[in-house]
Amino acid sequence: MNVTIITGGSDGIGAEMARQLAARHKDGLTLVLAARSPDKLQAVAAQCGGLGARTLCVPMDVAEEAQCRALVDRTLAEFGRIDALVNNAGMSAQALFEDVKAEDLHWYETLMKINLWGAVWCTHAALPALKESRGRIVAVSSLSGLVGVPGRTAYSATKFAMSGFFEALRTEVKLRGVSVTTAYPGVVTTQIRHRGYNAQGRPLGMSGLKEEDAMSVEECARLIIEGMDRRDREVVMTAKGKLGRFIKLLAPGVVENMALKVLKDEARPH
Ligand SMILES: NC(=O)c1ccc[n+]([C@@H]2O[C@H](COP(=O)([O-])OP(=O)(O)OC[C@H]3O[C@@H](n4cnc5c(N)ncnc54)[C@H](OP(=O)(O)O)[C@@H]3O)[C@@H](O)[C@H]2O)c1
Repeated sequence: MNVTIITGGSDGIGAEMARQLAARHKDGLTLVLAARSPDKLQAVAAQCGGLGARTLCVPMDVAEEAQCRALVDRTLAEFGRIDALVNNAGMSAQALFEDVKAEDLHWYETLMKINLWGAVWCTHAALPALKESRGRIVAVSSLSGLVGVPGRTAYSATKFAMSGFFEALRTEVKLRGVSVTTAYPGVVTTQIRHRGYNAQGRPLGMSGLKEEDAMSVEECARLIIEGMDRRDREVVMTAKGKLGRFIKLLAPGVVENMALKVLKDEARPH
């Protein structure tokens, strides 16, 4: 039996990972899908069930510690084990820091709770079971967690924090047989940027990034699953992402210009 928890399993990359895992394993796979929207979770669960997976939907908010712990408790109560935890739930944001008013700055903390703390709380609760199963932890970070992207001070902060947390944890749990795979997607064709916060902390309703070269959600999910299967330390996506990481060490100014170029004109510093 393989029990895999996916946070943010109701849409986008998490939902596609669930479908692809269900299609691969055929049977013997139990998927625990967690996110806030019960209807969307049920729809993904029905697709995965049709592919042979056993599913459990857990409507929850990763920004609440008690709900993260309850997700893990419920999984253990129902199935008695956890083989993989995919920390994927996340939210985006796009605003120049100078455009954020003092009374609105609180959403930076909310974003940190969703993108960093949700993963920390779920991982803390699941770690004893993952040590028992010599399981896998996946953290879905972002290229914005390797390179600071203008207009994304909040988002980059959450993803750098996530990258640092899981890099440190990887070395701690290595001898326990637990692997930590951090994924760094670039721009992927989901609605995340439309839903993300604007300067006032309301849904942006558009993408501030150029989307022409976006990676398909199918390819992104496949790359993360392959990395998880191989217990790779990292999955850095796109040639630019891989290159940018190394150029940053030698010529950071070049990478700053690359980061500016991913923004649409209207989202650039004015
Ligand atoms: N798409 C990209 O270009 C891209 C690039 C780099 C990294 N990423 C990362 O990939 C991950 C998935 O993103 P995506 O593109 O698939 O986004 P998405 O399509 O908007 O899906 C986000 C998922 O997270 C869930 N979620 C959001 N806030 C939550 C909360 N407070 N509690 C529980 N679940 C929550 C959403 O479900 P509910 O709304 O139902 O809660 C949904 O299932 C994120 O961590 C994101 O930062 C994405």
